[in-house]
This record gives sequence, C-alpha cells and structure tokens, in this order.
Amino acid sequence: MIRGVIFDLDGVLTDTAVYHYQSWRKIASGVGFDLTESHNEQLKGVSRAESLDIILNLAGASKTDDEKSVLLAEKNSHYLELIAGLSTADILPGVVDFLENIRSGGLKTAVGSSSKNAAFILDKLQLTSYFDAIVDGNMVKQTKPDPEVFLNAAKLLNLPSENCLVIEDADAGVAAAKSAGMQVLGINSHGLLKDADRCVQNLLNMDLQFIHTHFSS
Ligand code: BG6
Ligand code: MG
Repeated sequence: MIRGVIFDLDGVLTDTAVYHYQSWRKIASGVGFDLTESHNEQLKGVSRAESLDIILNLAGASKTDDEKSVLLAEKNSHYLELIAGLSTADILPGVVDFLENIRSGGLKTAVGSSSKNAAFILDKLQLTSYFDAIVDGNMVKQTKPDPEVFLNAAKLLNLPSENCLVIEDADAGVAAAKSAGMQVLGINSHGLLKDADRCVQNLLNMDLQFIHTHFSS
C-alpha cells in the first residue's frame, strides 16, 4: 500500500531541465563541445559536479579541480539568471491538483532532488508547504543513481521503502528509487523510462485512485 509519494523536482514539478540544459550548453561550448539534447539525457538527475565530469569526458577535455570549480560556479550563476523569474506559472500541469488530492487522501509527500537550488526553486513556485519533507543535493553524500536521497526522504516521512512511490523524469532517478526498494511512476513525454513501473506524460488527471489502482503492493 502506498502511503507516501516522493517527488523529484527538476522535470517533475517544474521544467527547469531546459534551463540546466541551456547553462550546460554554454559551459560545453566553452570547452569546444556541442552538447546535444541526446547528450543532455545523461545529465538529468545527476549532480552538478558529476554532470561537469560527464561533459568533460564527452568532450575529451581534462581540467584541474580549481578549473572545475570555476566552471561549476559559472554554470550555476548562468542557471540562477535563467530561473530568476520562476513563478507559480512554471509549475508543470496537474502538479498542484495532484498534491492537494493525495494529501487530502492521507498520503505524505516529500521532495527528493539532486539539486542544491531546490529550496530556492520550491519557494519561487510557492510549493514548499505542500511537502512534509524536503531532501536536496545539500543534504546527501551520494546523489542519484545512489538511493540516499530517497531513503532519507522516506526516513523523514517515517515510512518504509515499500510504502513509498517515487515520481521521476530521469533514468538516474528511476535507478535510485529502484535501489531504494521503491516503486516508480515515470514522467516522460518523449518515450519510456525503461525501468519505471509505469509512465505518464504529466500529472494531469492523476489522483489517489490512480495510485491505489496501479501501485498497491
Ligand atoms: C537535478 C537535475 O535535479 O539537479 C540535474 O536533474 C542537475 O540536471 C542537478 O544537474 C543538480 O542541480 P543544481 O541545481 O544543484 O545544479
Ligand atoms: Mg528530474
């Protein structure tokens, strides 16, 4: 029986994925690499530092730790410029109705995100009060695909893994949820997240009944 839902942030609650992509493209082009949308799929759900390592690897470039720190700061500063105007209008379709519906039906809710900007973004979206717990990239040692972020969220909700459903848009996040022993609803408008238990395009028309029907264990 699902008693709690843990939401990824980027790409599930809001479409910040596109701004991450734009900022990474700028960094990649600075090292002479043309980062495509297809390359970008590898970055989704992955921490900032690991994303840079993946790009440098794709580019065949090598940087010292100090040079990497500069690039990471540049990436985040460009990203923060792009999301400065984020508002409730940027919440993805169906999210608020779904949160209200499942919370009034007694489910607990949490955010489990790799982002160090999660608290800032949730505040901009005015979504913070919809969650019983928030675990972000500042609060874990290992980021997705490691299960730590979701295990910590379940702990804060006081629920065992088998009672938690994770909602994710990235392969790294699906892998993290699976290795935490949780079921996964994938959000994917382009095709299937192959390891998710079920996929939908967005949270429009999703409700408690859908969860109980498809994820009861
Ligand atoms: C994840 C995104 O949620 O957070 C990744 O899917 C991003 O693309 C990661 O790199 C880290 O985010 P931030 O905001 O700490 O740079
Ligand atoms: Mg995501």
